Amino acid sequence: MILCVNVDHVATVRQARLGSDPDPVMAATLAILGGADGITIHLREDRRHINDRDLDMLKKFVPVELNLEMAPTDEMIRIALRALPDLVTLVPEKRRELTTEGGINLHALRNRLRKAIRVLKGKGIKTSLFINPSPDDVDIAKEVGADMIEVHTGCYANTKGNMQERELVKVMKAVQRAVSRGLSANAGHGLNYYNVSRIAESDSIRGLYIGHSIISRAVLVGMERAVHEMRTLIKRS
Ligand code: PXP
Repeated sequence: MILCVNVDHVATVRQARLGSDPDPVMAATLAILGGADGITIHLREDRRHINDRDLDMLKKFVPVELNLEMAPTDEMIRIALRALPDLVTLVPEKRRELTTEGGINLHALRNRLRKAIRVLKGKGIKTSLFINPSPDDVDIAKEVGADMIEVHTGCYANTKGNMQERELVKVMKAVQRAVSRGLSANAGHGLNYYNVSRIAESDSIRGLYIGHSIISRAVLVGMERAVHEMRTLIKRS
């Protein structure tokens, strides 16, 4: 199972002073030295953290999977076609949200997603859809031509006890359904050093996409160690 580290929040700290430190490109290098198999960034319409320069630099310097999270807008598709990341993950985006709040609305955006995936695939870019753990969403992801899905683990991460068990079952069912339909299945959102192991036990998940918990720990213990500790937890599961 691969671990992809989202470095958006390194850029969040940089933007607090609108300067050049800390640099998400350096952070990505240290994350890779700590054992990251991939680097993720979310280029938001409002450029609140990651910006176009970061994308170009990361494309140049990241020797592992570079995953660009983005909304399926014309502007972002143009940028992806120019930058050519290894993977694009299409996510919903709202201006006023603190973070991505849920999976993309596949019912409403079916045609837009189908078109975006066709264009991206035409340039050799693999495409993933960030989806809620629902059987319908897995089926639509397959129908619109996605290569992969990333199952939203936020509800699993934000609950405890029986509720968390129920959320875990939903995530695992979505993963199994995706795999049975020939889609690769990833998972992410809200995963941390306490809750990652139950998800990492699954043999069917291709990769985990984790940001906030790793960057928070990196502030205290350093990036390489924070990534290495997460890597170890995932390997042990
Ligand atoms: N996957 C997707 C699609 C996301 O939007 C995010 C948040 O940027 C993550 C994973 C990582 O979530 P977290 O920062 O809670 O680990």
